[in-house]
Amino acid sequence: QAGAVPVITIDGPTASGKGTLASRVAQRLGYHHLDSGALYRACALAAQRAGIAPDDEPALAALAAALPLRFEGGRAWLGTPGEDVTDRLREEAIGQMASQIAALPALRAALLDWQRRCRRAPGLVTDGRDMGTVIFPDAQLKVFLTASAAQRAERRHRQLAAAGVSATLPALLADLEARDARDRSRSSAPLKAAEDARQLDNSALSIEASVEQLLRWWDDAQGGA
Ligand code: DC
Repeated sequence: QAGAVPVITIDGPTASGKGTLASRVAQRLGYHHLDSGALYRACALAAQRAGIAPDDEPALAALAAALPLRFEGGRAWLGTPGEDVTDRLREEAIGQMASQIAALPALRAALLDWQRRCRRAPGLVTDGRDMGTVIFPDAQLKVFLTASAAQRAERRHRQLAAAGVSATLPALLADLEARDARDRSRSSAPLKAAEDARQLDNSALSIEASVEQLLRWWDDAQGGA
């Protein structure tokens, strides 16, 4: 709609490269970037620390509604004055727990306003599972990013190897498929492409090529508005 602060949403499965793509596009446009997965991961970490069970929906929703989380300088800060939890949020166990608690409607509802408040001038690029379908249904550009499961498992394998973590490809592939299945089949805001989303399969694309494709779509979206 005219006058609204611009939003570009990038949704897609785990390890599809949406975080990297969103952050590069945000940088190129001088926009803010919201990694909504980090928000769910921060809830998982905070719940783990508070000893809240992953199925205690009311307690998780209360925790999420008052989550003392800030993104600043490319890092995630939890608590007051704030502990840098960026690396902890990327841990595999936290990702699995995030996927589990993300299926709870009350928790998702508690995070809605927090996410919408990130829509600030000059614009926002956001990545997740339901950014284009639920959180920003009026986004000016919606992208659904995919890559084959084999490609995604290999990327994750390389990332982990670079970080000195050993993991086997078959185990990574199995984890990834389990998480995909859970994210797609949940009844509350499942992972799926918005009807008006542009599909981008980056299996055979470099990051630079994906960034350029998105920026071309963004030009189109604005020319056509
Ligand atoms: O993108 P990620 O791997 O950091 O996300 C972690 C989990 O959080 C993912 O398994 C599903 C959930 N999630 C979600 O349900 N909705 C979002 N918008 C982002 C993440």
